[in-house]
Amino acid sequence: MKPRAICDGVQLIGAVDWNRRLFDSLIPLPDGTSYNAYLVQGSEKTALIDAVDPAMADILTGQLAGVETIDYIISQHAEQDHSGTLPLILDMYSQAVLVCSTKAKGLLIDHLDIPPERVKTVEDGETLSLGDKTLQFIYTPWVHWPETMVTYLPEDRIVFSCDFFGSHMAMSDMYAGDAPHIIEAAKRYYAEIMMPFRKPIQNNLKKMQEIDFDLIAPSHGPIYDRPEHILSAYEDWVSDRVSNLVVIPYISMHGSTEIMVDYLVDALVERGITVQKFELSSTDIGKLAMALVDAATVVIGTPTVHAGPHPNVVSAVHLANALRPKLKFAAVIGSYGWGTKAAEQIAGLIPNLKVEILGTVLCKGHPRDEVFTELDALADAIQDRHAAF
Ligand code: FEO
Repeated sequence: MKPRAICDGVQLIGAVDWNRRLFDSLIPLPDGTSYNAYLVQGSEKTALIDAVDPAMADILTGQLAGVETIDYIISQHAEQDHSGTLPLILDMYSQAVLVCSTKAKGLLIDHLDIPPERVKTVEDGETLSLGDKTLQFIYTPWVHWPETMVTYLPEDRIVFSCDFFGSHMAMSDMYAGDAPHIIEAAKRYYAEIMMPFRKPIQNNLKKMQEIDFDLIAPSHGPIYDRPEHILSAYEDWVSDRVSNLVVIPYISMHGSTEIMVDYLVDALVERGITVQKFELSSTDIGKLAMALVDAATVVIGTPTVHAGPHPNVVSAVHLANALRPKLKFAAVIGSYGWGTKAAEQIAGLIPNLKVEILGTVLCKGHPRDEVFTELDALADAIQDRHAAF
């Protein structure tokens, strides 16, 4: 797209990637994404805030074709979807200084071979004058790497937030307004990328409360022109509150585990508990991650394969452990043919989850009455623990 004005002297540039369907070779992108960059032209100096993914370099260089001078290139985050074209931009503007946090300098040198002499590091809270506009850099570690910072433009009341508050969303509109699907996309983004850093984000949100702004301009997805919506959503997601929700990721090879899962779903629903089940050979792992943002309990359903859990279950449990959701309780259910270590192996895969294990229900062969009785007891235990939510 062509550059678009946000206000006098501030333009949205960068690329909309309508067709990308996978990020980090892992994360589904059902709605594509964007790599937003911003051009800020003050009365004396011009700054470019972030760049784009190398696959979209031509779009950014085309947008900059008429820009004779860039004095500062602000790198808020060293991950390559924002930094990968920085070497190219530094070549285009030989006088430009690359501005980044102290931690980002080493990362940019390591990942992109940026010449150290082109880099100026800034401290938390430091300002840079562009003449009639000022950039203030605010460290916001772990959104989403340790070096990340946001940039505040007080004269125009804009916060450029890079990954923080982003959404993988390709769209032609510049602004989010109060569209619920934008918050849904931002929740997916939080779940897949930000959730492991819930505690640092709590601190970063406090830092955001100390500045006055009207717009949040992230480097993925639309600009928030009603930032109260996304701020409120983040406050909820990073809080310690959980919902009366049980998430059941599972696999069934010959039907026994599925029968157990379906029985447990009914038992939980009868007890007033909301359930989301995810069949792991076909599920969108982004949807599973989103459910884990709020859930109080996870029940993992697996058949036994060579004495252990099914590989798809191992993968999902590994991911859940890495994402560190605020789950409170967990249980394992499933089936086996002649022997199993599935439950013990799953327990060993979730050291990051600070959960109370509510029980294990394992069934040899086809589920019978005694298994259903155990599942009822598990549902009772979950109902008891969820009474507080
Ligand atoms: Fe959009 Fe962490 O990069």
